[in-house]
Amino acid sequence: MDHIWLPFTQMRGFDIDARTFVRGEGCTLVDARGKRLFDAISSVWTTIHGHGHPHIVKAIAHQASVLDHATTLGAANLPAITLADKLAKLTGLDRAFFSSDGASAVEVALKMALQYWQNVGEPRRQRFARLTNAYHGDTAGGMSVSDIALFKEHFSAVLFETLPYEGASNVLERDDLAAIIIEPVVQAAAGMYIMPAHLYEPLRARRTGRPLLIVDEIATGFGRTGPMFASTDLQLEPDIMCLGKGITGGTLPLSATLTRKYIYESFLGEFSEGRQLFHGHSYAGNPIACAAALASLEVFERENTLEHGLNLSSALDVLLRSQRGRKSVREIRRAGLMCAIDLKPETLRLTHPKSVAWGVADAMYERGHFTRPLGNAIQLVPPLASRAEDLVSFVNALNEILDAYED
Ligand SMILES: Cc1ncc(COP(=O)(O)O)c(C=O)c1O
Repeated sequence: MDHIWLPFTQMRGFDIDARTFVRGEGCTLVDARGKRLFDAISSVWTTIHGHGHPHIVKAIAHQASVLDHATTLGAANLPAITLADKLAKLTGLDRAFFSSDGASAVEVALKMALQYWQNVGEPRRQRFARLTNAYHGDTAGGMSVSDIALFKEHFSAVLFETLPYEGASNVLERDDLAAIIIEPVVQAAAGMYIMPAHLYEPLRARRTGRPLLIVDEIATGFGRTGPMFASTDLQLEPDIMCLGKGITGGTLPLSATLTRKYIYESFLGEFSEGRQLFHGHSYAGNPIACAAALASLEVFERENTLEHGLNLSSALDVLLRSQRGRKSVREIRRAGLMCAIDLKPETLRLTHPKSVAWGVADAMYERGHFTRPLGNAIQLVPPLASRAEDLVSFVNALNEILDAYED
């Protein structure tokens, strides 16, 4: 109890007894005090089919008993091979390189792009462009292509400079640009900002592969915004795509960097040429995680998960009308089941050592809903397997709190 250190958490004053989860059942988390909570943020956008889905649990248990782990540095395993095939078919890309977390998939994408340009004789292409307010993870490369000052300000010593995409009309023409990286449709970590479709237009029109287009679907992938992948709606054709979070249905850490044949083939050569991709993690392509991902994809088919998600999204649209126009609500931003209710803190008579939004999130916890603010916004990113009643209950609880504290 005295030794754990939690991410993005001020540990002073942190009440570990009040925030320890001991069980997950469907879309419910149970804390150490026995309190049951709707997992309204899908455990930071990972959970898809609910916690402990029997089909995924069975696949995990089976795979653990057959082959728990074997390195993929110079060796494959059957679940990883099958999953790579499935992901290639789903995304239309050709090769899948596995890692463990989203940020690692982004690091791989950046390194793949850099080495690719060296492989094809354009070593000058070493720079990366990114969107304003981008977020791509907390490792050095991920932070460098991100644009959220608060997350980066202490770490400038290990960051490289990146080029802003918006407002710089010819950035895509630069002959030193290796790639541009984007989040499709929604910038989630920045506050669930829905991006105007025209922003992506030049990326659709660009000559394929120059610079490379890296699409980060780590938050948006696996049905979160409606389609399996958000970039489909934008008709983008990524050269590299990053997947993570929901890839295992939210059960185990796994991520993938998918790429096209021409990039992959540029890495082929004699061993002595040293063209292989110089990157790898101990648990890359872990067989249990890959088996969980395969089982999750099966559940998508068996339970028509995407269709259920679309129905939920329509229900949410209607439900959130009760909040639009409220004195304490600045705006509601939503893409499918990724939603942020942005509050006007000055209109709420609520004090909390962190912020008004944290006060609201804590009050939601008391009412049985686990959420976390993004700035002044309350997030609602429910598992795709949620029931409409869960969403009704969430919105009612939030309305009660706003009623109680509005000026
Ligand atoms: C778009 C995007 N990319 C990358 C990441 C980093 O993923 P991870 O937290 O698994 O490292 C996130 C996490 O929120 C994300 O939203």
